[in-house]
Amino acid sequence: MEKEEYKTQLDIACEKFRKLMAEQLVRVENMKSQGDFVDYASLDKIKIGVCGGDGIGPIISAQARRVLEFILSDLVEAGKIEFKDIEGLTLENRIAKGKAIPDDVMAELKSCHIILKGPTTTPQKGSGMPNIESANVAMRKALDLFANIRPVKVPEEGINWTIFRENTEGGYAIGSSGFNITDDLAVDFTVTTKQGSDRIARLAYDYAHKNGFKRVSLVTKANVIKTTDGNFLEDCHKVANLYPDIVTDEWYADIMTAKLVDKKRRRDFQVLLLPNLYGDIISDEAAEFQGGVGTAGCANIGKKYAMFEAIHGSAPRMISEGRGKYADPCSMLRACVMLLSHIGLQERADRLERALDICSFEEKKLVITGRDTGATCDEFGNYVMETLRKI
Ligand code: IPM
Ligand code: MG
Repeated sequence: MEKEEYKTQLDIACEKFRKLMAEQLVRVENMKSQGDFVDYASLDKIKIGVCGGDGIGPIISAQARRVLEFILSDLVEAGKIEFKDIEGLTLENRIAKGKAIPDDVMAELKSCHIILKGPTTTPQKGSGMPNIESANVAMRKALDLFANIRPVKVPEEGINWTIFRENTEGGYAIGSSGFNITDDLAVDFTVTTKQGSDRIARLAYDYAHKNGFKRVSLVTKANVIKTTDGNFLEDCHKVANLYPDIVTDEWYADIMTAKLVDKKRRRDFQVLLLPNLYGDIISDEAAEFQGGVGTAGCANIGKKYAMFEAIHGSAPRMISEGRGKYADPCSMLRACVMLLSHIGLQERADRLERALDICSFEEKKLVITGRDTGATCDEFGNYVMETLRKI
């Protein structure tokens, strides 16, 4: 029974909801009319934009850029690849402009084919900073980077997982647009669309198929979040039916977090396919087995743009404690491996991956600890460069 005293609040809430849903319906229309993936081989020149970000971002991005420029030097000289610095994706500038991504920065991002991005700081509610949306999330949505691909490997433990995290929907689609209905009641939203689930599922199954993986594990909380997670599952199964050689299994996110620490079971997992928020959580847990989030990079792939970054945040505490120079560049360097592979330079990607494996797992002449007990970010960058020159 609707109480008269709440009428105004309910009307305001319904109006807000209507506007949000209208925007989501436009997004669905846009997805329906979207073209195919960019064919990088057909471009005269590939433009790579580099944003340093905040906190440890500029420190680790500088090493990633240095290594990438080295690996691509012949193509840069031949005018086939161009690097472009994109300034202004800093917390200060975003606060000054009151936007997750200021308009001029957005225009520059959109003028590039590929973006290499350092972590950015997200102002948190109650921090005294304005409540602007995370720059990561805003960029993923604005450039429609719908697949967040996060590999995790620990060869000696038989771990070889590739996480396909849906990247534009779920709790993130309108994650900054929740509101208080009354002083007592607040609401946030989770969004799933048929097109959104279908496209991430196709990418995950196609990847499994092309890379010889035999299992795709769907991770949701569809026993509780019945509609959106339920639809996600249903749409993934439709794609799964096109791949009869691949086994599809279903897991709830809670038991999946448990099974990932079960040494006997976890080696069975291969490709994990998840809605956004579960993908966020599970990928941090997964990265921990490989040496921590500092070692994990990711690809954010859309049809038109692609962005490569670390899976972790900007680590402001490392900066405030004066430990910034000891930050681990491996997350960004692993992202560069994915970048090279994405633009069709697989041999160079393999070479960088090999160098990183030698430095991180085999020789280990330098070890990063995040403190003065280990190497600095620059020293590690030099080590990777020396290794690259040798192989
Ligand atoms: C990630 C990060 C981001 C996310 C944050 C920084 C907004 O945790 O890339 O996983 O939640 O997606
Ligand atoms: Mg995360």
